[in-house]
Amino acid sequence: MNVALDPAPMADAPDWSRYAEGAIVETFADARLVAGARTPFVDYNGALALVSPTDLGIHAARAAIARAGIDPARIGVTIAGNCTQASFDSLFFARHIGLYAGMPDDRPAHGVQRLCTTGFEAIAQGARATSAGQVEAALCVGTESMSRAPVASYTSRGGFGLGQVEFKDFLWEALFDTGCGLPMGSTAENLSRLHKVSREETDAYAAESFARALAAQQAGRLAEEIAPVTEQVFEGKGLKPRRLALPRKLAEVAADTHVRPTPIEALAKLKPVFGGVQTGGNSSAIVDGAAAVVVTTGAVAASLGGGAAPLGRVVAACAAGVPAEVMGIGPVPATIALLRRLGLGIGDIDLFEINEAFGAQAEAVRRALGVEHARFNVNGGAIAFGHPLAATGVRCVLSVMMELRRRGLKRGIAGACAGGGQGMAVLVEAA
Ligand SMILES: CC(C)(COP(=O)(O)OP(=O)(O)OC[C@H]1O[C@@H](n2cnc3c(N)ncnc32)[C@H](O)[C@@H]1OP(=O)(O)O)[C@@H](O)C(=O)NCCC(=O)NCCS
Repeated sequence: MNVALDPAPMADAPDWSRYAEGAIVETFADARLVAGARTPFVDYNGALALVSPTDLGIHAARAAIARAGIDPARIGVTIAGNCTQASFDSLFFARHIGLYAGMPDDRPAHGVQRLCTTGFEAIAQGARATSAGQVEAALCVGTESMSRAPVASYTSRGGFGLGQVEFKDFLWEALFDTGCGLPMGSTAENLSRLHKVSREETDAYAAESFARALAAQQAGRLAEEIAPVTEQVFEGKGLKPRRLALPRKLAEVAADTHVRPTPIEALAKLKPVFGGVQTGGNSSAIVDGAAAVVVTTGAVAASLGGGAAPLGRVVAACAAGVPAEVMGIGPVPATIALLRRLGLGIGDIDLFEINEAFGAQAEAVRRALGVEHARFNVNGGAIAFGHPLAATGVRCVLSVMMELRRRGLKRGIAGACAGGGQGMAVLVEAA
């Protein structure tokens, strides 16, 4: 099967630029992304299924701090994102990540949630805090256990009548937008119709994502982002020890598990899940994982002796709103507004790292922005290695910065759509 990856632009393609008008753009005068790390992204119900999102976040945060070579005592704030609140102590997650990552107890921490763009929001807030001179450094984290998303009841505290108990699968329900009455997958089907992305083209996009991710895994590029997870006990002054436990006989989890050889013919055999082009093979995989980065002022970045050289600058961020039934197009107006503000064009951006919530959605974004495949998700995306909701934005920013460095390129945009109808884009520049 041979499907063209860069079809000619459609004459009657929808114009999303009007949604750039309501977008909020923010530029950052002094925000260096020094270093970051993530856990492997592991298919749900896999080796990380029993690990609390807080522990995934602590692990990523400790690794990011170690790679940055910064004393945690110099970090002024923890900004951590999480969507599914998948542990009994999850209200404390941001604070616990900061404390168990070694930060002094007089440094505040807070949680953020902007659905699938949560990780970008955490980094934008960190960049704002360093640029405003509030802190010398910020720890920005996104963490998600999709496996542990609860089976929940909101109405049982006062007891329930026979047959009236309401327990629901939070993971399934959370991916359904009750505002527009659609599951996330159906919003991608809408984009497949509007941008004429066929089943064959969606599968071709997905097969390429798997191929690129597999090549990146085999070449060790994904491993450069990953801090392998081992059994460990997190301790800190005055803190009860927390234990990160892996399944018995498993010493270490080191690699993303969803990445695999995927011929387009195998994808073509899968049944549609939402009545159109999307299947379990060309949609983002459901995985557990966390990612963390350290954002500092330029002065602090220059003073860090032991760590790696800073990856670069976080230049600007933008959040935009779009209709909920086409939520996946969100990165388009966010990118347009960002570029307008900075007086840049699509051609000025060397690499794009846009979350692949769904194959038709990512392809619609690529077409609407007019970016050729060679600059778009060059190491694959969430179709191949998964989309742990709040961790994704941090992973995307870290990945694009590491790839800019590898290739000796300058500017990158990382972005994602968010359920309910939003998109974010973050502009970065390599050091
Ligand atoms: C689409 C979706 C519902 C599918 O869930 P699922 O059925 O649990 O997915 P699975 O991983 O079991 O995959 C389904 C099938 O595809 C197959 N498949 C997946 N990846 C494949 C690959 N690379 N090659 C071949 N087959 C593959 C699986 O083997 C499985 O086949 P089977 O049914 O014969 O066992 C789910 O992935 C989803 O909702 N993803 C999007 C999540 C989301 O909305 N995130 C937020 C975005 S805003």
